[in-house]
Amino acid sequence: MSSDNSNDDKNDKNGKKPLRSAAWFGIQGKDGFLHRSWMKNQGIPHDNFDGRPVIGICNTWSELTPCNAHFRELAEYVKRGVREAGGLPLEFPVMSLGETNLRPTAMMFRNLASMDVEESIRANPMDGVILMVGCDKTTPALLMGAASCNLPALAVSGGPMLNGRFRGKHIGSGTGVWQMSEEVRAGTMSQEEFTEAESCMNRSRGHCMTMGTASTMASMVESIGMGLPHNAAIPAVDARRQVLAHMAGRRIVEMVREDLTMDKILTREAFENAIRTNAAIGGSTNAVVHLIALARRIGVELSLEDWELGSDVPCLVNLQPSGEYLMEDLYYAGGLPAVLRQLGERGLLHKEALTVNGKAIWDNVKDAPNYDEKVITNFDAPFKAKAGIAVLKGNLAPNGAVIKPSAATASLLKHRGRAVVFETVEELHEKVDDESLEIDETCVMVLKGAGPRGYPGFAEVGNMPLPAKVLRKGITDMVRISDGRMSGTAYGAVVLHVSPEAAAGGPLALVQTGDMIELDVAARKLHLEVSDEELERRRKAWVKPESPARGYYKLYVEHVQQADQGADFDFLVGGSGAAVPRDSH
Ligand code: FES
Ligand code: MG
Repeated sequence: MSSDNSNDDKNDKNGKKPLRSAAWFGIQGKDGFLHRSWMKNQGIPHDNFDGRPVIGICNTWSELTPCNAHFRELAEYVKRGVREAGGLPLEFPVMSLGETNLRPTAMMFRNLASMDVEESIRANPMDGVILMVGCDKTTPALLMGAASCNLPALAVSGGPMLNGRFRGKHIGSGTGVWQMSEEVRAGTMSQEEFTEAESCMNRSRGHCMTMGTASTMASMVESIGMGLPHNAAIPAVDARRQVLAHMAGRRIVEMVREDLTMDKILTREAFENAIRTNAAIGGSTNAVVHLIALARRIGVELSLEDWELGSDVPCLVNLQPSGEYLMEDLYYAGGLPAVLRQLGERGLLHKEALTVNGKAIWDNVKDAPNYDEKVITNFDAPFKAKAGIAVLKGNLAPNGAVIKPSAATASLLKHRGRAVVFETVEELHEKVDDESLEIDETCVMVLKGAGPRGYPGFAEVGNMPLPAKVLRKGITDMVRISDGRMSGTAYGAVVLHVSPEAAAGGPLALVQTGDMIELDVAARKLHLEVSDEELERRRKAWVKPESPARGYYKLYVEHVQQADQGADFDFLVGGSGAAVPRDSH
């Protein structure tokens, strides 16, 4: 840095540390001219460069990410708040990740987007940042990237869509697709009805309104302290969502003045609050991977086993896919604060954990009313008992696997069955409806090659479609095991995230059709009944898959970590702060 802009560490005449942005906009000479003059081509008055906090608005708007397509308008409300509080808002785009369009899977690009976020924040003149998040992967990508810079940051979720309505009934995004497509395959729903449902399911701006990954992550944002109260559930179209964005804009300016950096919020206690909240909302298994990755960015020790902290917590919220209602109902019932209050009353919340509004989480929720006990059930008569994610171990998953018991058929949580193996997702699609496939409902479906390296990208294919001949018997669930993930809107007795994955040479790679597998969720056990000697013999014959030849795929496959470590890139773990030693000229 040249001598005329190296004012990072010196205090001003009031004894205050100058803001980070002053190293760009607060300097004289050629460099100050360069930084300010070009910005003025946007009509920014000179006095806006007087040392006021510069707030970046990190926006994942894209017409290819329908869940975030309203974010440019929502960002305008953030700007109102920033200006009211005396800050200068500057919006910038980052890579957007739309769950429904991206191939091979949006998860393939979570780490790439997080790199975009991290470097965009660090390289630019900003003192604090608003993270505009919505569709599944946009939330972890922005939190992870921002955490590696550790500026003051506040996440604003875009809000869920209104309830889907189809022929007089509620239908949930995602969940309804899985249900209705099985009905079409079973012959109980016509193709015409199925097509009509397309426009009935997703009928307003916003993200999935089931308790899928987007709503789960919006709830994680709120429970971990990174969002304002009610961040999770206000519908995207409700004017109160715009007010929330407005308030976030005001608040981030104060956070800069308070130097309230992310590491002060993302403590071990905050993560534990989020884990227990995930159980209480019946949240997505994807949160396991995302929160572990986030913790490793900010330097908090968090292991897969720590998810057992939530395993005894009941599911209070009766929302699809585990239950009946949708996010709009959750908001009218009192929203996430009403859930957090119950956790606090039962000693399941670290009450002192700090949140972005500057208050302890308990101060935000202790008086939160519950207006509808059908939607937010009571701890004494919970929607589901012991609902948290269970972490399984055994010779089939030495580094762990997960299952969401609340989304599974209870009788399958202890099950022993004959494996029917699909080496790839293509083989699954080709064979699953083949009438000659030797399979019935007592079998255990096993899918390989769906993990981070194997797919590549760690796809949401773990909730394998059931064989048509099983569906015709009226059976809707079977034990399924894979190294993949499952959409947060999906359900079933599905064991996910098996680690190490098949493509990394995990024991999953060695399973053969006909092997017996034992699942015992209460005992946290996933056992392959094959001797060590036989497994060793099979291992010798196993061939490691080749890396992709070039480009991002190559980078991804060579650096992605396993599911139990959050599937981040090895070189992205940790953070580098916000300082940059050199200017561009
Ligand atoms: Fe975007 Fe579900 S597809 S949130
Ligand atoms: Mg999803």
